[in-house]
Amino acid sequence: MIIAIDGEASTGKSTQAKKIAEKFNYNYRDSGAYYRAITLYLIQNNISSNSNINQNILDKIDVKQKYENKKLSIYLNDVDVSGKIRGYKVSTNVSNYAKKPEIRNLVYKQLRNSDRSNSLVIDGRDIGTVVFPDATFKFFLCADSKVRAERRHKEINDKAVKLELIEKEIKYRDNTDSTRKVAPLKKADDAYEIDVTLLTIDQVFKKILDKIDSK
Ligand code: CDP
Repeated sequence: MIIAIDGEASTGKSTQAKKIAEKFNYNYRDSGAYYRAITLYLIQNNISSNSNINQNILDKIDVKQKYENKKLSIYLNDVDVSGKIRGYKVSTNVSNYAKKPEIRNLVYKQLRNSDRSNSLVIDGRDIGTVVFPDATFKFFLCADSKVRAERRHKEINDKAVKLELIEKEIKYRDNTDSTRKVAPLKKADDAYEIDVTLLTIDQVFKKILDKIDSK
């Protein structure tokens, strides 16, 4: 069984995906974390998103995800980058790398080769549309950008980071993600859309569980 949780930036996709993984004891993959780790590598190596990223470079990037004891860890060439990939620099650049087909193909390979001995829940932008169009359940989360920025701001918990800046970054990413040529951010026709603007985490989770139970 595959459950796809797609949606706009900062709508709580990974929170919901982890809750599902915990409840049903499924494996979990955060597709955005692959794009973030690859972006970190390319920034660290001064490889611009405007350049052609050849196979030689891609072969040097090894990203692994481990989901254990309710914790997701991301390794870039065996170094734990779980915190670093959430920083401002990666967040503001990731969409410009994620629109490149060569990078998307690298992530698709990783996702499709995920350990399938267990059911899988994956969050992202194009899981239900492109990566796993036959997913058993598809959800699409959206919300007002101001509310999303406020939630992310609270999560970051750093007064030095301005709320307006976060909202700008979120809007910029949504725009780049939904206007790109390859696998743009959009709801799959058969996905169940949930507007999370006025809902708590538990209310969203209940809607997801109700949908799963109703099948
Ligand atoms: O957590 P948040 O919703 O802010 O973002 P994320 O899931 O970590 O994804 C970061 C970025 O990776 C997105 O803005 C997209 O540019 C890219 N991404 C993508 O293109 N396709 C996916 N399936 C997942 C993420």
